[in-house]
Amino acid sequence: MDLVTEKREYTGDYPDKTLYIPGPTEVREDVIDEMAQPMFGHRMDRMTDLYTTVVEDTKEFLGTDNEVIVLTASGTEFWEASTLNLVDENILVPTCGSFSERHANVAERLGKNVDRLEYEWGEAIKPEDIRAHLDSTDKHYDVVTCVMNESSTGVRNPIEEIGDVLKEYPDTYFVVDAVSALGGDYVDIDEHDIDVIFASTQKAFAMPPGLAVCVVSDAAYERELEKDEASWYGGFQRSLDYYDRKGQTHSTPAIPVMLAYRKQMKHMLDEGHEARSERHREMAEYTREWAMEHFDVFPEDGYESQTVSCIENTADIDVAATIEAVSEEYDYVFSNGYGSALGEKTFRIGHMGEHDVESIRALTDAIEDVAGL
Ligand SMILES: Cc1ncc(COP(=O)(O)O)c(C=O)c1O
Repeated sequence: MDLVTEKREYTGDYPDKTLYIPGPTEVREDVIDEMAQPMFGHRMDRMTDLYTTVVEDTKEFLGTDNEVIVLTASGTEFWEASTLNLVDENILVPTCGSFSERHANVAERLGKNVDRLEYEWGEAIKPEDIRAHLDSTDKHYDVVTCVMNESSTGVRNPIEEIGDVLKEYPDTYFVVDAVSALGGDYVDIDEHDIDVIFASTQKAFAMPPGLAVCVVSDAAYERELEKDEASWYGGFQRSLDYYDRKGQTHSTPAIPVMLAYRKQMKHMLDEGHEARSERHREMAEYTREWAMEHFDVFPEDGYESQTVSCIENTADIDVAATIEAVSEEYDYVFSNGYGSALGEKTFRIGHMGEHDVESIRALTDAIEDVAGL
């Protein structure tokens, strides 16, 4: 292969930047410190203490009786694993932006028959459209997916209502990509019959990257047992059976990140999911009000994300230059719009994890200053 990328030596000499991107986000100092410990073996009792604490605390924080897997991977792993574990043939993927589109790509790459329900970017997925589609066809879908928070457009999809619709289709499993939502936007997983919901630690959980969290219903676990083929690394059965027998992970985890996870989950339990979700709602509301003063809000009205705001650049600022100047002058980093279509047309502020309204105001003040708003 003739790859064009050349080595750019990592110098170690970089200024610290405050992250307002849609992940990774700011991590508490005591959580970072947890990672700097001597290693121990992943089959030692200490690992059982660590992993069972992490798993049970996550269940408590998320308020679910379903089973939890914390796997060394990023959230992407569970696009692949949930497809392999649950889908024989047909999967319905509503697409409303880049990440839901990528979910469809993953399933196609795995050889599944993917039907898309396509929405314009910025629009939200509607439960009635899913019901209409399912009722209009004789096809059986093993899985319907939905991205909870489409990070490319700042749309928060109504997964609760979609879950309620899917209760009427008991042989169809509901898989939710909540990568940029969970930890900052509460969803009652059990009440809305969500079979599989997953997230990455570097987003609203405010942890370092390296782990993916997946919540699995009994029905989804049973479904994998029926299938001839399933994921090995991301197999629900493999992770959950190993947990049940040994209280450990099936292969060597990223122990430093898991130590950080334990610490941060204690902070999250202290705050509680209601207060954490409320703090995110306040940050989102503040950001939208600020955006409406100077710009416009990109997502469809009423479906705005609680963790990532996508702002329509109606004031026609130079987005790339503003990002660069805010980074240079204030050491704050926020994001451009996603891909070439939205790159300059929108920009995104990640208000997730440990941020609060005050820290978001510091960013919006910096943007106002640099862009002369
Ligand atoms: C909605 C959504 N899904 C999936 C992903 C992929 O997550 P990861 O990079 O952790 O694999 C992202 C990443 O930004 C995302 O925002």
